[in-house]
Amino acid sequence: MDVSDAIAKRKSIRAYLDKPVSEDELGKIIEAGRWAPNAGEFQMSVVRNPELRQKINDRTHKAMLNSGVEFLQQRASLPGYQPLYDAPVLILLSGPADNPNSAINTAVAAENMLLQATELDLGSCFLASTKLGINGEENRDLAQEAGIPDNYSLQCAIVVGYPAAENKFTAGERTRKGSVTYID
Ligand SMILES: Cc1cc2nc3c(=O)[nH]c(=O)nc-3n(C[C@H](O)[C@H](O)[C@H](O)COP(=O)(O)O)c2cc1C
Repeated sequence: MDVSDAIAKRKSIRAYLDKPVSEDELGKIIEAGRWAPNAGEFQMSVVRNPELRQKINDRTHKAMLNSGVEFLQQRASLPGYQPLYDAPVLILLSGPADNPNSAINTAVAAENMLLQATELDLGSCFLASTKLGINGEENRDLAQEAGIPDNYSLQCAIVVGYPAAENKFTAGERTRKGSVTYID
């Protein structure tokens, strides 16, 4: 698969099989993230531990319900909704809280990983919701358990795994975003 195919094929997967991702595949995905453009350091926690994934899932779910943001509350209220979609691998991307580029550094690394996962025929999804369950004083215990360094904050996360037959919680076709202005 070339890059154009991976870009066209990648889509957010929101239902996963209970099947582990191999060490070799996971290693390739992590490497793809580390080769992304960057303007500073960032850190990745690869969470395969089911108990910790469940805790992060449940804390995020609760925070979505209590967020006061209608869209998040609606999503979290859907029957069976799990913010981590039962994926076997969760990768948390954090950066120094005082680096204004941390969000960008981690987002470009995440996209590299999503494309690498696509090439490997794995499903994936970019997540911002996990920030609600990990950041903030009230979630410090979970951030520590997840190995996020002091003075770093969670910027985004991805989940990776084998897609289930039915892609739950995803409605309709993918659409292109972004307006374009050419100035010749
Ligand atoms: C900044 C950002 C935050 C996102 N947060 C979430 C999230 O918390 N949960 C989720 O299921 N998808 C999340 N997504 C995925 C988008 O919903 C998805 O990329 C978009 O609907 C386009 O669909 P596609 O990825 O299948 O092309 C996020 C995407 C971005 C760029």
